[in-house]
Amino acid sequence: MINLAIVGATGLVGSTFLKVLEEKSYIKIKNLYLFASPKSEGKQIVFRGKTHTIHSLSKENILNKKIDYALFSAGSEISKKYAKIFAQNKTIVIDNSSAFRMEKNVPLVVPQVNEDALNKHKNIIANPNCSTIACMAPLKALDSVFSLKEVVFSTYQAVSGSGMKGLNDLKQNMLGNKSQFYPYDIYENCLPHIDSFMENGFTKEEMKMVNETQKILGKKIKVNATCVRVPISYCHSISIYAKFQKEFNTEKARKALQEHDGIILLDEPKNNIYPMPIIAKNRDEVFVGRVRKDLFSKNAMSMFVVADNIRKGAASNAIEIMEKLIAKN
Ligand code: A2P
Repeated sequence: MINLAIVGATGLVGSTFLKVLEEKSYIKIKNLYLFASPKSEGKQIVFRGKTHTIHSLSKENILNKKIDYALFSAGSEISKKYAKIFAQNKTIVIDNSSAFRMEKNVPLVVPQVNEDALNKHKNIIANPNCSTIACMAPLKALDSVFSLKEVVFSTYQAVSGSGMKGLNDLKQNMLGNKSQFYPYDIYENCLPHIDSFMENGFTKEEMKMVNETQKILGKKIKVNATCVRVPISYCHSISIYAKFQKEFNTEKARKALQEHDGIILLDEPKNNIYPMPIIAKNRDEVFVGRVRKDLFSKNAMSMFVVADNIRKGAASNAIEIMEKLIAKN
């Protein structure tokens, strides 16, 4: 039995934490504490047949409680302000924001890829970026066989990656209204712009894919990313081009992908079988297809990966981390 807090419980990822926990009824919860902004204070949410009240987050509200795990998804600023207070109060924080991902003492974990990193935490564990999470198991599976050297990501990311604000813009655009959050309409459009632009010409989202891939795979591989927002509600798709030390072989790759935990291989192009958002939605696995050897380099290949960005890319991955920790304790 665990005592659990959810920070950002009214948000898109926060409410998905609750949905996933409803499904995983074998995770026994003694006390559940739900936190959001002061505007949600007093709101009620039904979880496992019981009504829970939302509280606003404050130091006092944390320190007077015994909380074993806290799942955070209320943005980086809230994580920076409160995660350490929880951690000092002996709570293990699993943080969905980018606040701590690149800190040396903070494991950045995809359980199907680098579970061992969980052995060295100091009460804060980071959940990786949603597109990065989707790509890690497929790359790890191939790295084990061919030894990964370089990777190029091109993403097609759903508006729910921007939270409620992104979903609202798409909905409003479809009714003929202008975007409130994105700099342009997203309906009938693609934005090669996710998060802010940096001095080097890449966006912060692209640099997250670069830095987090190296940290999770534990290798200084060369990474390049172009991240694009597309007008769909859920699921991120990623076209991956990868180069290896060893010669690539499609059959061996398909076998490695098929056998890897957390991956579903959908790769029968002749029968129109390949991964798509409509297949990955509401699922916790990563879907992989279009696996093919490069035309010009015998050590390179391409594939197409799709995962539900709110589930595997955020809430489910964090809960899988928590399950691993519960099993260890
Ligand atoms: P609230 O609904 O009260 O604003 P999303 O990413 O889907 O927009 O969700 C963001 C989540 O972060 C929401 O649950 C939101 O609560 C929460 N949040 C925003 N500001 C704070 C704050 N100051 N303290 C705690 N939670 C916050």
